[in-house]
Amino acid sequence: MWLYSLLELDLKSLVLFLFAYLLITDFLKQRKPSGFPPGPRGLPFVGSVFSLDPKLPHIYLTRLAEVFGNVYSIRLGREKMVCVVGYETVKEALVTQADCFVSRPPSSLAERIYSGNGLFLSSGILWKKQRRFALSTLRNFGMGKTSLESFIIEESRFLQEEIECEKGNPFNPHILLNKAVSNIICILVFGRRFDYADHEFETLLKLLAEILYLEGTIWALLYESFPKVMKVLPGPHNRIFGNYDRLSDFLVEDLKRRNAERDPSGPRDYIDSFLAEMEKNAEDPALGFHQKNLILCALDLFLAGTETTSTTLRWALLFMIKYPHIQSKVQDEIDRVIGPSRPPSMTDRASMPYTNAVVHEVQRKGNILPLGVPHMADRDTSLGGYFIPKGTPLIVNLHSVLFDEKEWHMPDIFDPERFLDSNGNFAKKDAFLPFSAGKRVCLGEQLARAELFLFLTCFLQKFSFSPPPGVEPSLEPEGGGTMAPIPFKICAHPR
Ligand code: HEM
Repeated sequence: MWLYSLLELDLKSLVLFLFAYLLITDFLKQRKPSGFPPGPRGLPFVGSVFSLDPKLPHIYLTRLAEVFGNVYSIRLGREKMVCVVGYETVKEALVTQADCFVSRPPSSLAERIYSGNGLFLSSGILWKKQRRFALSTLRNFGMGKTSLESFIIEESRFLQEEIECEKGNPFNPHILLNKAVSNIICILVFGRRFDYADHEFETLLKLLAEILYLEGTIWALLYESFPKVMKVLPGPHNRIFGNYDRLSDFLVEDLKRRNAERDPSGPRDYIDSFLAEMEKNAEDPALGFHQKNLILCALDLFLAGTETTSTTLRWALLFMIKYPHIQSKVQDEIDRVIGPSRPPSMTDRASMPYTNAVVHEVQRKGNILPLGVPHMADRDTSLGGYFIPKGTPLIVNLHSVLFDEKEWHMPDIFDPERFLDSNGNFAKKDAFLPFSAGKRVCLGEQLARAELFLFLTCFLQKFSFSPPPGVEPSLEPEGGGTMAPIPFKICAHPR
């Protein structure tokens, strides 16, 4: 009996000792260097993770600035990070100190999927080389040119036919918009568009949407914080990896198919161009021209080029049915400048300040990436008077820029007029940063801007949109990787 009690005591002491040891190491690891930004005192091991609303984390992260100032620190999971709030501070970090915050912080999820490859989460020479290559290749195949405009106009015709099939009945535009927008990046990357009924295309889009959704949930945050434990635990986070594998399989098949028919002297798309570069740079793997990176970069473009723009267009339709007088003003401008049948072009934008202002206000208020993508300090530096050591992850709070009260009058109101001067001309605003800023500014900004203007103009040229009878549209956002509106239905009436 006494032996049992002694063993029990020993076990208890061991557990207590272990706990105390972990607590002390955790405390020592989280000690802030002198001059480091202040921040909330979180719980041991997890920090402030549980204070965040997993659906709208940017709200809490913006409010904290009222207590700690526009540069503050916060521990989320294992890592302590610095959060940058408000236009002036974000500009200081991303533009004034552009070279100091170029890299991405290490991430357990990214490490398992990308191992330092890809466009979004890579850093250093590989990122630099791949970003430059992606930009110039997408431009070669139409980004920023009239050839891209014709793809978008053609795609909006397919979309128009689908919408006409609804015959004015309520329908959810989500999947249709996803398919139309995705087809534009597919033309640039894979050299082809997919039919809307294509089963493979539907599967790819579903896998992609689920990845984005899961990456914005507490499961992804838990994986980041406790990768060793989460790796062996069942749960929805495992579908992120499973989905990436299935998307990669699709690309491997595409590569096999195209190897048989490819003419190396005449690349047809991003993938052909990448294969040509692989042949040229075979001896220098550090530049990233190898098959694994080809797959991950192509997936990044597919992923980034689909959900973001499609979600913004969903917000656009929602704002149009919520504020029919704004929809009518856009239609008046379309009728005046383009007329009922000529397809719109990007040159029309200069003569359509109101439509341009609406697109900007949709992006500002839609606020689809409220916390952008994390950056990391590449060297010891200072920000807002605080010391930021090399390797510190930086959360760039884009929500706080797009809703900064110093920059925008009544930022919570949807008001396109804020982008017009007193003569009705379009007025650029410095704090309009939905694509972020600096060296890692969105690579697809030009493409997204063309898609948003042309798709929206084509829709409103051909249809008037309204909510289903008796329904009041809700502007509530839904959680997830991109902040999307909660699912809604619209009715499209041919004009
Ligand atoms: C409305 C649509 C879009 C919005 C609001 C948006 C926004 C953003 C933001 C906020 C970032 C992070 C920038 C940073 O790290 O500071 C980003 C990065 C990126 N975007 Fe977009 N994006 C959009 C559309 C697109 C499209 C159509 C593409 C396709 C080419 C694309 C490709 C990328 C890529 C590859 C990156 C990573 C750039 C890098 O790390 O160097 N985006 N985007």
